[in-house]
Parts: sequence; C-alpha cells; structure tokens
Amino acid sequence: MLLLPLMLWGQEDFISHYEYGEMLYANPRGVSCAQCHGEIGEGKTIVEFRDIHGKQALRGSDIREDTLEDMIKAVNSYHEIMPRYYLTDEEVKAIYDYIHKKNELYLSKFTENNSTE
Ligand code: HEC
Repeated sequence: MLLLPLMLWGQEDFISHYEYGEMLYANPRGVSCAQCHGEIGEGKTIVEFRDIHGKQALRGSDIREDTLEDMIKAVNSYHEIMPRYYLTDEEVKAIYDYIHKKNELYLSKFTENNSTE
C-alpha cells in the first residue's frame, strides 16, 4: 500500500489541468505572473515612485480578457518589464485556463455586455 502514492506520481493526471495552471501562474520558471498581474490576472501595481512629474506607478496589466493567442505571444516575446518565459504552448494554455476558471463570473458579465462571442 505504501507504494501506491509513488506509482500515482508517474501518472499524467496526478494533478489536474487546473492545478497545473495554478501552479504555473504562481511560479513559472521562478518569476510569478501574480507578482505583476495580480492573484488572478486582474492586474496590480508593481511599484510606485516619484519623479519630476510627481507620483508615478508601474502597473502589470489586467490580462483576464486576453485571448490565448495574446498570452502565447506575450509570454514568448521581449518586453521592457515583463520577463521572457520560454513556456510551451501547453503550459501557457494551462495558465490561460486557470485564469479563465478563476474569473468565470467576471468574464461571463463581460461577454454578456459585449456579445461578441
Ligand atoms: C515583472 C512583472 C511581470 C511579470 C512577472 C509578468 N508580466 Fe506580463 N506584463 C507585465 C507588464 C508591465 C506588461 C505590459 C506590457 C509590457 O511590459 O510590454 C505585461 C504584459 C502581459 C501581457 C500582454 C497583454 C496585456 O494585456 O498587456 C500578457 C498576456 C501577460 N503579460 C501575461 C503574463 C503571464 C502569463 C505571466 C507569467 C507567465 C506574466 N505576464 C508575467 C509585467 C509582468
């Protein structure tokens, strides 16, 4: 019986697609998306500072309404602030699905108002 957990570990669906996405969003290659895009993709202020123009804020964008294509492109390209990740499409899909699951309610309101889908 003690061997059972070890045997299960090797199986692909030991963790669900959702949990995989949650894990990846929280810690993809060491730098968390959540640090800049908020707990569930809603966006957040990364830092606030003052310069000659007064108070400034650097924000991670709200990515809840981004398409999977947007996300794959964003994660695989260079940005000024956001790191480049080298995640596979499958990994980005898991992150995407996680964000969508977490924001089901918010996104359903969004599509109701904008009936594009
Ligand atoms: C260090 C902060 C930081 C981290 C970490 C980060 N991002 Fe970003 N991300 C940004 C900023 C700032 C932008 C705005 C555009 C830019 O910098 O080019 C952005 C843009 C994006 C965009 C482009 C579309 C949009 O609506 O702005 C997507 C999609 C995205 N990020 C997803 C992710 C995902 C998924 C992760 C984790 C794998 C991640 N980001 C990690 C800061 C970050």
